[in-house]
Amino acid sequence: MGNVNGRKTILSGMRPTGKLHLGHLVGALENWVALQGEYDNYHLIADYHALTTNPDSSHIGANSLEMLLDWLAAGIDPAKSPVFRQSQIKEHTELHLIFSMLITAARLERNPAVKEQVRDLNIENVSYGHLGYPVLQAADILLYKGDLVPVGEDQVPHVEIAREIARRFNAQYGAVFPEPEPKLTHFPRLPGLDGLDRKMSKSAGNTILLADPPEAILAKMKTAVTDPQKVRRNDPGRPEVCLVFRYHGKFNSPEAGAIEAGCRSGALGCVECKARIATVVADHLAPFRERRDRLAARPDEVKSILASGEERARARAQETMAQVRAAMHMG
Ligand code: TRP
Repeated sequence: MGNVNGRKTILSGMRPTGKLHLGHLVGALENWVALQGEYDNYHLIADYHALTTNPDSSHIGANSLEMLLDWLAAGIDPAKSPVFRQSQIKEHTELHLIFSMLITAARLERNPAVKEQVRDLNIENVSYGHLGYPVLQAADILLYKGDLVPVGEDQVPHVEIAREIARRFNAQYGAVFPEPEPKLTHFPRLPGLDGLDRKMSKSAGNTILLADPPEAILAKMKTAVTDPQKVRRNDPGRPEVCLVFRYHGKFNSPEAGAIEAGCRSGALGCVECKARIATVVADHLAPFRERRDRLAARPDEVKSILASGEERARARAQETMAQVRAAMHMG
């Protein structure tokens, strides 16, 4: 498929949960930044999706701007890749409506992400919009004719639904859409500070924020759960069961061998090991924090970056909708 210039299009998106954490950087943002040169990228702030699980909209605007600052500070170049809020491009809602006729409610109820929530919530409490979460996501992707969608494993079923909808539309009305493919992020999830088997997430309260200053990083790192068998400094530890060691592996690879040996022999205590990784992570984030602070001090510049991203995204969305209407003879 691709674009006029022959390059493939990537549509990436996140729900605006506010300030982002290290897990977002490692699991998504580093990948987005790396893909910027090779593809046409669109970066979507899924602010309508934020309403599917909680209709309270009072923080969505502020959370969207905080997230945008993190994106830009991480190296998303808005001159290359438009950044935009879903809610500011009306075409998302139009295409969502059309797509909602092309998939059955039963198929949406079988979606594993919804199934899991239904187990906790009971279907009686799942809104129509929540059930349609992947339909809106399909509109997000296909409005820009996204060929690839960078996602983690958990989002693959959503992309599969987008593929089904694209096929169904093309068969019913004529070939307008590509069949988007997930582009899996291969770096394993960064565990949260509360245990190796839990990912970093805002709701679990086990995060290091990208915007955290060095003191906060150290204070949080001190709370990290380590090998329960290593109680005292000289006890030998097992790096393979320690989440702090995972962080060394990711952010401190030159020293990881020595850290591992010190932990196993008992020569290295957890306090020291945590202080070291806290410094390394803080240093790693220093240029990020500097860029973030600089941007945060210039809200007008950030607003104009968003306005220009939205203008470019809208132009592409309108072009696609014209093709959709023509194919449907509703032009
Ligand atoms: N569902 C995604 C998440 O929770 C957010 C999202 C919305 C998205 N629309 C998208 C991701 C389109 C990729 C493409 O992270």
